[in-house]
Amino acid sequence: TFVVTENCIRCKYTDCVEVCPVDCFYEGPNFLVIHPDECIDCALCEPECPADAIYSEDELPANMKNYIELNAELAEVWPNISEQVDPLPDAAEWDGKTDKLKYLER
Ligand code: SF4
Ligand code: F3S
Repeated sequence: TFVVTENCIRCKYTDCVEVCPVDCFYEGPNFLVIHPDECIDCALCEPECPADAIYSEDELPANMKNYIELNAELAEVWPNISEQVDPLPDAAEWDGKTDKLKYLER
């Protein structure tokens, strides 16, 4: 499965949503997640993210392992998103900032 990680927070470009063939993205206020049971591992979304926030679970950097659980948990409670929307207004400013998990809104 593929996993959305920290750099999506406060950016939420949503280019990923546009290419997903099974519509398995779920949307929170300032972050997106992938439903691990619905993702078919097509890998199309990974290169589309302008923030490089999407990884294959197998290639997740060690400091982002916690995002596996977070994607699974939030995909159960957030609504599905199947079409691209505008990024958050400050996306460019937040892209690449570190330590963004504390800003995650649920
Ligand atoms: Fe969707 Fe494919 Fe990305 Fe999985 S890997 S979230 S199926 S686009
Ligand atoms: Fe987030 Fe990248 Fe998608 S910033 S919304 S994972 S395109």
